[in-house]
Amino acid sequence: MGDHSDGIPAGSDAVAKAGLNEVEKFQDPGLPPHRLRLADTDPRAAKRAERQVAILFGVSVVGTLLFFFGYFFIRLDDTIATLRLQNMLLGLGTAFAMLGIGTGIVHWARALMPDHEVSEERHELRSEADREAAVKIVDDIVEETGIKRRPLIRNTLLGAVALAPFPAIVMFRDLGPLPANALKHTMWDKGIRLVRDPTGTPIKASDVTLGSAFHVIPDGLNDLHEGKLEEKAKAVVLLMRLDPSQLNPSKGREDWSYNGIVAYSKICTHVGCPVALYEQQTHHLLCPCHQSTFDLTQECKVIFGPANRPLPQLPISIDSEGYLVAQSDFHEPVGPSFWERG
Ligand code: FES
Repeated sequence: MGDHSDGIPAGSDAVAKAGLNEVEKFQDPGLPPHRLRLADTDPRAAKRAERQVAILFGVSVVGTLLFFFGYFFIRLDDTIATLRLQNMLLGLGTAFAMLGIGTGIVHWARALMPDHEVSEERHELRSEADREAAVKIVDDIVEETGIKRRPLIRNTLLGAVALAPFPAIVMFRDLGPLPANALKHTMWDKGIRLVRDPTGTPIKASDVTLGSAFHVIPDGLNDLHEGKLEEKAKAVVLLMRLDPSQLNPSKGREDWSYNGIVAYSKICTHVGCPVALYEQQTHHLLCPCHQSTFDLTQECKVIFGPANRPLPQLPISIDSEGYLVAQSDFHEPVGPSFWERG
């Protein structure tokens, strides 16, 4: 290929023409013809859609009421069945409250609000004019939603939106009372027997063989009618036996164990999961939630993970019949660290 006299390579003319053809091929096809919906032409269909939207907002209101019912009126009687029922009502209530509003708004927009297609040219931003245009758009949207003409939809939407945040707000009740009071005392006290969880059978020191581990609760816990779950959540203990020579008690704790048998709170000091794994060979206790690891031979000092204090130890001894008993309550609050531990 040779050059033209103006310096443009030969053949570029053909390329330019081909480019033009490409542009023509992709010309803006414009908007498709507008298709009317049933509700646009049939007033009865519009009325039906309006009722459907109102029903969906009504579903949201029912969902919120369901949440309140589950939260305030289901009495937890320490059975798993009531706990499950309450959780189900809270979950379903929240889901219906949110879904009702969401689907109602979507259905409203799809069936009743104007659906004409709009195209807008890009233009330079001019603050004042843009602001006025934006205000006009908002006014138009309010006008087009028909919210002023459809009081049924407006009122049910207002009701649903007004009620929907309340489940989140009432949940703040669960932040109290301050853990300073709730976590400082458990059911353990001087002379209370250590019993197996969940059977409640007492444990003799001779039952605890080297390397074994027991999940333990205080005697009498199973007889509680009120607050059993809360008490159990604080008082659960892990009981293990080591060779006494492997224990390294600090000053003042020398008599907190019995013949190598030690008891520690099972509630992780990170965020409170049950520390349930005992590695017999290494004498490590492991929290399955975030892998905090506590060394039994060093008074459950944290050797790995996010927990930042040892598991509290329960001082134990035996009674006249050889059963393991607590010497006292824990000497510090159990569970996660908090701002008023003191
Ligand atoms: S709760 Fe135990 S490590 Fe996080």
